[in-house]
Amino acid sequence: MVLTDEQKMIVKAARDFVQTELLPGVIERDKNALYPRDQIQKMAEMGFLGMMVDPEFGGGGMDTMSYVLVMEEISKVDASCSVVMSVNNSLVCWGIEKFGTTEQKQKYLPRLVSGEILGAFCLSEPEAGSDATHQRTTAVDKGDYYLVNGIKNWITNGKYADVYLVMAQTDTEKRHRGINAFIVEAESKGVSTGEKEDKMGIRASDTCSVLFDNVKVPKENRIGEDGFGFTFAMKTLEGGRIGIAAQALGIGAGAYELALKYSKERVTFGKPLYQHQDVAFKLADMATELEASRLLVYQAARDKDAGKSYDYSGSMAKLYAAETAMKVTTEAVQIHGGYGYVREYHVERLMRDAKITQIYEGTSEIQKIVLSRAILKE
Ligand code: CAA
Repeated sequence: MVLTDEQKMIVKAARDFVQTELLPGVIERDKNALYPRDQIQKMAEMGFLGMMVDPEFGGGGMDTMSYVLVMEEISKVDASCSVVMSVNNSLVCWGIEKFGTTEQKQKYLPRLVSGEILGAFCLSEPEAGSDATHQRTTAVDKGDYYLVNGIKNWITNGKYADVYLVMAQTDTEKRHRGINAFIVEAESKGVSTGEKEDKMGIRASDTCSVLFDNVKVPKENRIGEDGFGFTFAMKTLEGGRIGIAAQALGIGAGAYELALKYSKERVTFGKPLYQHQDVAFKLADMATELEASRLLVYQAARDKDAGKSYDYSGSMAKLYAAETAMKVTTEAVQIHGGYGYVREYHVERLMRDAKITQIYEGTSEIQKIVLSRAILKE
């Protein structure tokens, strides 16, 4: 696919950044589940935390295409860093910029872009993951503030975020139409976090529960009209899914590049691995499926940039890229044989990292719900 000169420069800058700043230490950070605080700050200095935000609010003013290109490069090496980038860009910054008031944008966006503060998106709950309309967290209207109570689960950036976008039920009778979205500052009285989850993959990233115990949230922190919260979450996730699709693409592409290199270096039965047809055919399948993922991810990004609807293309990109990432990373481990099973060779980490892309921001099954409903409506 043809990229503009500016997009090519961004890819080059991201590739260089990944090699010098993210690759060193990635194995240790994963092994010890160490949050990449310094790396995230450096990503902010590169402008990667608010790429699409309008320059008026300190952002890069870039298109979605540039954003997915950088997501792809970072995810090739460190998906723990790219998930932080994805949540901050496509859920938190985009959600506030698209639906927030001028005051909310001025107050939060410049600091979210610069890395001074970090954001998190609080939709999932212990009993409301895929079934997101069934929010149990409540926000009772008390006049000039809301009183928020509840628990949010699996929150990326949970401990390190300074602001949470929180979905909560204001009017239970109205079901999902009674949900509101709020900007809640982490320093508010009554906000606390649970233990960091000990995860299979993206281990360096921070995932935990966030608890709200009689938290007073000022009225002016509600996003949009009363009852807009569920639509807000769905619209924001539409773009989020493009970011995670790009992450999945990057994880798969990173594993493929390592497998290709290894297949040229490793000699078995008197010839390099790639000269064995079973390995060559695996590489051909991996390359084909990754290219198909890439086309779907770029198409979704271009739909968003062109102002077209992108719920369908974004869901399709996420579904296909996530399934491909799982397949391709598993094959990359297989090509590496025993070496693929140890940390030093990176592919086992990429295989563990790939799994979450089939789960968060809408499981593969949720994408199939979205896609099948769209197809059957036509
Ligand atoms: N845009 C706007 N509105 C939408 C929408 C969209 N894309 N999708 C659904 N809605 C609206 C519907 O129109 C409906 O509103 P009305 O009744 O007013 O018409 C309302 O939402 C409910 O929709 P459904 O009746 O279709 O509800 P459902 O329960 O059958 O299905 C769902 C909804 C699509 C399954 C939704 O719950 C969903 O997307 N679930 C997955 C949640 C998810 O992706 N969570 C990710 C957590 S965030 C995360 O992972 C971040 C991270 O850490 C990396």
